[in-house]
Amino acid sequence: MYSLKPETINVLLQQNSYPIWIRKGIRKSIGELLKSLNKNQKWIIISPTPIYNLYGKEIFQILNQSGFKIEILEIDDGERVKSIYYFQKYCKKLIDLGCNRDSILLALGGGVTGDLCGFIASTLFRGISYYQIPTSLLAMVDSSIGGKNAINIEEGKNLIGTFYHPDAVIIDPEFLITLPEKEIYSGLGEIIKYGFIISPEIIKIFKKLNFLNLDIQSNEIEQLIIISAESKSKIVSIDSSEKDLRRILNFGHTTGHIIEAFTNYSKITHGEAVVYGMMVAIKISHKLLNLPKQVMDDSIYTLKKLCKTEIPFIPKTDFLNYLFRDKKVESRQINFILIDEIGNPIIHNNINPNIVYDTYKNLLKEIL
Ligand SMILES: NC(=O)c1ccc[n+]([C@@H]2O[C@H](COP(=O)([O-])OP(=O)(O)OC[C@H]3O[C@@H](n4cnc5c(N)ncnc54)[C@H](O)[C@@H]3O)[C@@H](O)[C@H]2O)c1
Repeated sequence: MYSLKPETINVLLQQNSYPIWIRKGIRKSIGELLKSLNKNQKWIIISPTPIYNLYGKEIFQILNQSGFKIEILEIDDGERVKSIYYFQKYCKKLIDLGCNRDSILLALGGGVTGDLCGFIASTLFRGISYYQIPTSLLAMVDSSIGGKNAINIEEGKNLIGTFYHPDAVIIDPEFLITLPEKEIYSGLGEIIKYGFIISPEIIKIFKKLNFLNLDIQSNEIEQLIIISAESKSKIVSIDSSEKDLRRILNFGHTTGHIIEAFTNYSKITHGEAVVYGMMVAIKISHKLLNLPKQVMDDSIYTLKKLCKTEIPFIPKTDFLNYLFRDKKVESRQINFILIDEIGNPIIHNNINPNIVYDTYKNLLKEIL
């Protein structure tokens, strides 16, 4: 057994339930943690070169010394690896490394690595085992949990993908020491989302954080990671294939995706775009669902602390084009997540697109 027990959260599924282990420094115990699963098969770390240099070498050595047959596949960094070209290239490399049906992949990196590795694991040899070892805050609290993975095609982001769960998620908050500030804020955006849709205690913790001098190794941040992982696993356990409840995870995402697409996925991080999207959703919630004004003002005040980048003016035609292209649109009816109180999401099945645009435009005036 491990000298220091990790916090364990279980993602409960009809088949293939799996644990999320969280503890500072847990990477150092990875040999012990996975020992009982080592049946002399090949384990392959998939990691972008910068992350491999920071943490992969250490993990490689620990597993090597613990008797694992371990290989490394270094990949390029950045969203572009989530493509058919790189998918094929890395599948070939895995086969060259001797990967077979019994092999196990370890996705060490941010959400990009997790999505690509999960997609490879779900398709190579019709499915092999993999573990998520997320290193970005966004990946720790969101993308590594829930089994959704994808690659991008010209027609849009994440359009080709599968639902395929990992055997476990291993979260070491110490990885965050080296994470750039803008990526930390991106992750905080996804964390606060859980506060609005399912775990109001998150909002209380946020109000106590000192954003002028944020300590990423503080107990509050670790607590936020744990509550977020619990929140996501609760939702995924009830609705593993995004048919119903899981749609509430899209809170703030409809407008967020429009901002990301309009700025070419380059100027603003995903989490920050979602923060602005949540402001729009909260303002509409006040208009349509009588979310109290005080709650709205308070929420916008807290969300503004997470904004580092300005959002652009988006012409109405572009805004509506992106809006109707979103995956959450069915027969031109826009599914939009609102809240009628903090922690209580409501799925609106046919929101008026003009309200969304006008609210965005007014938010822009308010912020500038
Ligand atoms: N599958 C899902 O459910 C889901 C959910 C949300 C987002 N996503 C996907 O996740 C991706 C975004 O994830 P992301 O924000 O983690 O991006 P990312 O993986 O590109 O990581 C961001 C940057 O931070 C670096 N980085 C990561 N950890 C680091 C560390 N500890 N120290 C230093 N640098 C580090 C990465 O190398 C990269 O340059 C998108 O492709 C998105 O579509 C998937």
